[in-house]
Amino acid sequence: MKTIKKICCIGAGYVGGPTMSVIAFKCPDIQVTVVDINKERIKAWNNSDLEKLPIYEPGLKEIVAIARGRNLFFSTDIDRAIDQADMIFISVNTPTKTYGKGKGQAADLKYIELCARNIARVAKDDKIVIEKSTLPVRTAQAIKNILDNTGNHVNFEILSNPEFLAEGTAINDLLHADRVLIGGDATPSGEAAKQALSSIYQNWLPKERILLTNVWSSELSKLVANAFLAQRISSINSISALCEKTDANVAEVAKAIGLDSRIGPKFLNASVGFGGSCFQKDILNLVYIAKSYGLDEVANYWEQVITINDYQKQRFADTIVSTLYNTVAGKKIVFYGWAFKKDTNDTRESAAIYVADALLEEQAEIVVYDPKVSEEQIYADLDRLNTRSEQENRRLVTVSKDPLESVDNAHAIAVLTEWDEFKALNWEKIYSKMLKPSFVFDGRRVLDRNTLHKIGFKYYRIGES
Ligand code: UDX
Ligand code: UDX
Repeated sequence: MKTIKKICCIGAGYVGGPTMSVIAFKCPDIQVTVVDINKERIKAWNNSDLEKLPIYEPGLKEIVAIARGRNLFFSTDIDRAIDQADMIFISVNTPTKTYGKGKGQAADLKYIELCARNIARVAKDDKIVIEKSTLPVRTAQAIKNILDNTGNHVNFEILSNPEFLAEGTAINDLLHADRVLIGGDATPSGEAAKQALSSIYQNWLPKERILLTNVWSSELSKLVANAFLAQRISSINSISALCEKTDANVAEVAKAIGLDSRIGPKFLNASVGFGGSCFQKDILNLVYIAKSYGLDEVANYWEQVITINDYQKQRFADTIVSTLYNTVAGKKIVFYGWAFKKDTNDTRESAAIYVADALLEEQAEIVVYDPKVSEEQIYADLDRLNTRSEQENRRLVTVSKDPLESVDNAHAIAVLTEWDEFKALNWEKIYSKMLKPSFVFDGRRVLDRNTLHKIGFKYYRIGES
């Protein structure tokens, strides 16, 4: 088995950055170089001020502080890093296609293909190439074809090694992974490649947690894991609507069913809807694959998970409008939170974006406060929807740096992200600054109902009548 001395990772994003930092941290004898076409991003990864890393993850900066410059490097010299590496991770983004066949569902593989062609052009000796990006089943085969047909007749082993990182806990998920999945060919060189990657993870994880499978199982398992997780959220969210019509409380229902050890307690928090870069995209991918094999019933089944999620976001917006006497035109509504969940500055597919869009259609004035998300990001998220002009978005939406200041003369507050700091705010003071009656719509079920009632708020939370 070849000992791996140098690793290159293409893509310094949410996945590549933290994953490579942990590998470098745990394997001081391996040189890890993370490359990216985005110069600004690489510059940020190299910033001497660790507060300015491009990604915020608890525990990340401490690890970067130890490994960077020792055996962890960030660079824009992609060809050089490929040339020197024994093992190359591909961790570039695979957005949902916005054009052509599979538009709105299939993953856009153009970046993956570019990477494969780049590797083929540069590589002068044998390489292990690892798909880290979540990809449709059978992408490994496509990568292999490109490498074999355009390469310099060196041997490429393709492995699938999906990530299971959740944002905000990425470092912990890497250090204490439930399992690591490595898919590869059953040939002797394929087995050797799997062992080489496995031995890297064995530097900090017990061998039993490293599953070796064939490539297709590994690729599919990643999509299925996310689909199952998202399905649980849509399931409990569908029940939250029913709870609001009856006198049931969704938290009590979730607890009652979660105590059944076959169901388990996790991922049963009703919310305004799941977001993030993975769930929707991976389900759409699963749906697309099923359809492409003529499995329409399977496709329709999984598509419902997204239908319910969209319904939940719209339902939250509708509740705000109907509660505010059927009109929000010109009314100031303050959003607490914009990120798709707490402890991250990531806003991809965040429910907040869609709830804002629905309320802006009703001519509401929105003020957003989020402790980590930048003003530019918030406007970029809204502009991307193309629902209205950029000027209109800037006229109707303002971004505030202060949760207390933002509520002056507001009609309502909507909690869109479960940031811990929202629980500790001075709610009496907030109440005193708002118009009366003062409404709070809790899309994350994080505030204390009794406290808010006592202060005088009209308080609504998802999943309770
Ligand atoms: C992405 C996918 O979204 C996810 O499905 C997959 O599992 C891993 O890759 P993420 O790391 O979150 O996840 O993406 P992103 O933060 O956008 O980072 C990708 C990086 O790749 C960007 O910095 C981009 O500049 C870089 N890139 C993209 C390249 O270096 N070369 C390319 O050709 C394309
Ligand atoms: C997810 C998977 O957890 C991870 O394994 C995979 O690699 C990438 O996708 P992530 O998107 O970072 O990770 O976040 P996650 O914590 O799973 O939450 C996704 C969304 O679901 C968030 O918007 C979150 O608020 C929401 N959620 C989660 C709920 O609404 N209720 C829950 O009970 C759990």
